[in-house]
Amino acid sequence: MTTPSDTRVTLSEIMRGTEANLLGTVHGGHLMKAVDSIAGVVANRYAGGPAVTAAMDEMTFVTPVRVGDILHSTAQLNWSGRSSMEVGVRVEVDRWDSVTERVHVASAYLVMVAIDADGRPATVPALELETPEERRRFREAGIRREHRLARRSAIEASRETGTEGSE
Ligand SMILES: CC(C)(COP(=O)(O)OP(=O)(O)OC[C@H]1O[C@@H](n2cnc3c(N)ncnc32)[C@H](O)[C@@H]1OP(=O)(O)O)[C@@H](O)C(=O)NCCC(=O)NCCS
Repeated sequence: MTTPSDTRVTLSEIMRGTEANLLGTVHGGHLMKAVDSIAGVVANRYAGGPAVTAAMDEMTFVTPVRVGDILHSTAQLNWSGRSSMEVGVRVEVDRWDSVTERVHVASAYLVMVAIDADGRPATVPALELETPEERRRFREAGIRREHRLARRSAIEASRETGTEGSE
């Protein structure tokens, strides 16, 4: 059995000038790619095979990242279902010009789905929860899942039946 902390992975990289936006700080899209990549690493390892990104939500950008900063993306599995998994990612930096505490720069939750050779959802193992923190994350991930699925169903239903907004 695998616990959430067993799945934890951190990737680190130095931010280059090629990652800069018009303001000279690191482009949000670069951070999103880092988040998606590390979530993929966690999900693939847990599933024991390929997993794709089904959704990415609640991505928050807390403070700008500067060129030269050392970016650390840390991810772990919060929740697993039949074929889907929620991965939580926290991104921090070491500033290039000072030795201080790591700075939290971004966070996100991603839904990853394990797939088989035909691209269809494949089952994943059950997650073993050990600590109160792991149980809290699992519980909160379950709430986010319910909201995602409810929102998707509500939108689909409104497309089938709704006429609001039309002339
Ligand atoms: C993700 C994908 C495989 C799901 O296929 P599907 O036919 O919709 O499969 P299902 O409806 O059975 O959903 C599979 C699981 O994903 C979950 N899921 C799918 N979309 C979701 C969403 N937007 N939010 C939350 N969960 C979602 C389902 O609840 C289900 O979970 P469970 O098996 O744990 O109960 C398919 O939509 C796909 O291939 N998308 C493209 C992925 C991609 O190209 N990503 C970018 C590159 S990695």
